[in-house]
Amino acid sequence: MRITVLKEDAAMEPRVAATPESVRKFVAAGATVCVEAGAGAASGILDQDYRDAGADIADTRQAALGDADMVLLVRRPENVIGFRKGAAVVALMDPYDNEAALKTLADAGLQAFSLEFIPRITRAQVMDVLSSQANLAGYQAVIEASAAFGRAMPMMMTAAGTVPAARVFVMGAGVAGLQAVATARRLGAVVSATDVRPAAKEQVASLGAKFIAVEDEEFKAAETEAGYAKEMSAEYQAKQAALVKDHIAKQDIVITTALIPGRPAPKLVSAEMVGSMAEGSVIVDLAVERGGNVEGAVPGEVARVGGVTIVGHLNMPGRIAASSSALLARNIFAFVDPMIDKETKALMIDREDEIIAATLLTADGAIVHPSFAAKPADGGGEA
Ligand code: NAI
Repeated sequence: MRITVLKEDAAMEPRVAATPESVRKFVAAGATVCVEAGAGAASGILDQDYRDAGADIADTRQAALGDADMVLLVRRPENVIGFRKGAAVVALMDPYDNEAALKTLADAGLQAFSLEFIPRITRAQVMDVLSSQANLAGYQAVIEASAAFGRAMPMMMTAAGTVPAARVFVMGAGVAGLQAVATARRLGAVVSATDVRPAAKEQVASLGAKFIAVEDEEFKAAETEAGYAKEMSAEYQAKQAALVKDHIAKQDIVITTALIPGRPAPKLVSAEMVGSMAEGSVIVDLAVERGGNVEGAVPGEVARVGGVTIVGHLNMPGRIAASSSALLARNIFAFVDPMIDKETKALMIDREDEIIAATLLTADGAIVHPSFAAKPADGGGEA
């Protein structure tokens, strides 16, 4: 089985889908690995590091693709020229509202796997790219906030007087939010957090932060069986806004991470709330790629609204690329390894497997994932 690791298409993607560590494991599992030259550069990995791990380096994308059985990427490829028909492609496919791109993958006869769809079951925890990347995004959000904040985070008692601790409020206490809470606590800030899921209350408290939420009947039922938040009623949102309004006015830093699967991000911080914050305050909106939690957040920009800085960086994990690539590569190895037949060393895709079935978007020339219409591709498939 031949695995190819491509350099990312997107100019904004510094991460890479394999590291020397994962290459070594693939080689030990019986695969041959080819890496496109420069693929790891933005994550601090040299071509020679991949060579030392047992990979071949190809100077061009076409040479790298060759007759690859599987292509690894961080993001969905923008073009599929040179991909072998029938090859597997593993990436964050960003499939929603991108049906034309899925059709391109299907038409090319590719077996496209969407890493976002790895189910959150025990067996797949080691493959969970959403968790590994959200964790680092939560950490980096605090680092970005502290860099934009013109003051210290911890309380400091010096001969010249006392510097007060920064007040940090984290909205949305899932994977990213809890890591933001933990990081802000480590830096010595006074931290509070909110969420609509009752399970978050204990998790926030266990990290030494104060939990603030409207704990009514709707709150008690806000968690779905899959562990995610439901979209809250307009009535709940109004109560939540009233509760957090006064709190936000007293914060130095607000970090928002709230998401609802398949829905736009809930609007949690209004322009009025932004206006209530003191000069020099900072907001980091981690939900900006999904519509944003904060009024005035601009995707990809650092906006100044009055005296408040609103950080809207896209791809927060990409800002800490060496660490995020290391975890992503481990997730991807764990996902791909069961597809390498241990006897024949060939690619073996078991479509009955729960993880395969959940992630496979296209196969045999068609879109096969149940969440997307199964349309036969124009070019015909492999039957
Ligand atoms: P997410 O990225 O979809 O959402 C982030 C957070 O925003 C969630 O905690 C959500 O409750 C919160 N939120 C949504 N609407 C909100 C609102 N209106 N106001 C305030 N907060 C709001 O969620 P994420 O981080 O991917 O994880 C959600 C849950 O799944 C967590 O409990 C986590 O522990 C669990 N999980 C389970 C895994 C497993 O393997 N079983 C792996 C990873 C996470």
